[in-house]
Amino acid sequence: MTVAPAADRFNREDWVSAFRNVEQELTDVALQPVRGTVPPELVGTLYRNGPGRLERGGQRVHHPFDGDGMITALRFGAGGAVSLSNRFVRTAGWLAEEAAQKVLYRGVFGSQKPGGPLANAFDLRLKNIANTGVVRLGDALLALWEAAEPHALDPDTLETRGISLLGGVLSPGEAFSAHPRFDPGHHGRPRLVTFGVKTGPRSTIRLMEFATEDDAAAGIRAGDLLSERRDSFNGFAFLHDFAITPNWAVFLQNAVAFNPLPFVLGQKGAAQCLQSKPGGQAKFWLIPRDGGAFAGQQPRIIDAPEGFVFHHLNAWEQNGDVVVESIYYSDFPSIGPDVDFTAVDFDLIPEGLLEQCRIDLETGTVATQRLSERCCEFAMVNPNKEGLPCRFAWMAAAEREQGNDPLQVIKKLDLRTGDRQIWSAAPRGFVSEPLMVPRPGAEAEDDGWVLELFWNGERRGSDLVILDASDLSELAVFELPLAIPHGLHGSWVPSVNSAPAGGSPGGAAP
Ligand code: FE2
Repeated sequence: MTVAPAADRFNREDWVSAFRNVEQELTDVALQPVRGTVPPELVGTLYRNGPGRLERGGQRVHHPFDGDGMITALRFGAGGAVSLSNRFVRTAGWLAEEAAQKVLYRGVFGSQKPGGPLANAFDLRLKNIANTGVVRLGDALLALWEAAEPHALDPDTLETRGISLLGGVLSPGEAFSAHPRFDPGHHGRPRLVTFGVKTGPRSTIRLMEFATEDDAAAGIRAGDLLSERRDSFNGFAFLHDFAITPNWAVFLQNAVAFNPLPFVLGQKGAAQCLQSKPGGQAKFWLIPRDGGAFAGQQPRIIDAPEGFVFHHLNAWEQNGDVVVESIYYSDFPSIGPDVDFTAVDFDLIPEGLLEQCRIDLETGTVATQRLSERCCEFAMVNPNKEGLPCRFAWMAAAEREQGNDPLQVIKKLDLRTGDRQIWSAAPRGFVSEPLMVPRPGAEAEDDGWVLELFWNGERRGSDLVILDASDLSELAVFELPLAIPHGLHGSWVPSVNSAPAGGSPGGAAP
């Protein structure tokens, strides 16, 4: 099949125009839809995180993942009122660079301080840029970056409180994943399940489960650590994401090698020193969860198929098998030191494809099945079904049905039949991670909404679209008074009040 060059398939200027600095911090700016109306039952806050500063002192980051974290909050109040706030996370690195008006730190993805390798060699400090995920835990909003501790923010004002050790759970500098999973209640109480990795020739995973709701009778408060365990595995672990089932925390250790020398010598960022390991063997590491049937037992280690995974869609169990659905790349997609990320040729980097691995724990074998041929990323199921068998998934995808391209459409996939629905922002729009929000009290798995913040290349700004989750029909569109670069992960917090359940001293937010 002959395909048009990537330059002809999308407008690169439109796509690149989103890689810019956020110049404003807005506070509770009231918004009106340009089309449609907000469903009255949609009440809560959409938080999103992503790089908000991509250039400083005339120097652009080498990779957008090195940009400083900026939080956007879109509040949906009673009566369809919607308001927008945004704040940079006041990390130590951001504050120091703001004061100096120049780049003071190297970035993990290859951004360098001015002055070439000599100026960068042996500077192994990590700049905790808090730019990857954002979740509510207890009375704090946590801005997450996987190589170090979370930053705590005020959930209402977005003011940065500072680095959080979660009430003494974490040690200073401890890694804390940007990909927590929300267990909707597999063992009764809902939980936030997450992990941190300490890498080395042997790597240790610390698995942590936190309460997400107060339970006065049990003496438990939201944010309390309910359980933890540590397990060590051979090899340098690169674990960005994981998945949960009622019984297992599922990790996929990609077959990668890490050679830190170019990082130490100032030639590459640490993440650029990762590469596929020829002849390497990927592994599934299954760690028994607290409260499950295998609690306290040793992890199971099983050979995994070839390929590279950043993100999982979901995992679930059936007849003792563990089924994991993930977005697979044929190889580790990295941007080398001499490549301008805005000029990247999409035809030369592998696309992400949704695949299902069924792990037979009895035999230690894995059966693989491709679920879709369309390039996709940022996939999710109904959060009330996290870790359980699901029929539907929502994801960002390319506009054409095969091959790699920027993400321009939202897709709903019926995992049973392969049927799909598409909402498209093409030709001039570029989508980010969609968030599926179930309608309160809904019974059908696809009853709810999809919230999508996308880049409108035509007006060089960010738009919010609310879709019906069942058929992706457009319910409302907002043109935001803010230009937000292509972002990473977000979350939905039902209810506009930040006070714990049962108390709402401030009343409903506007
Ligand atoms: Fe991620």
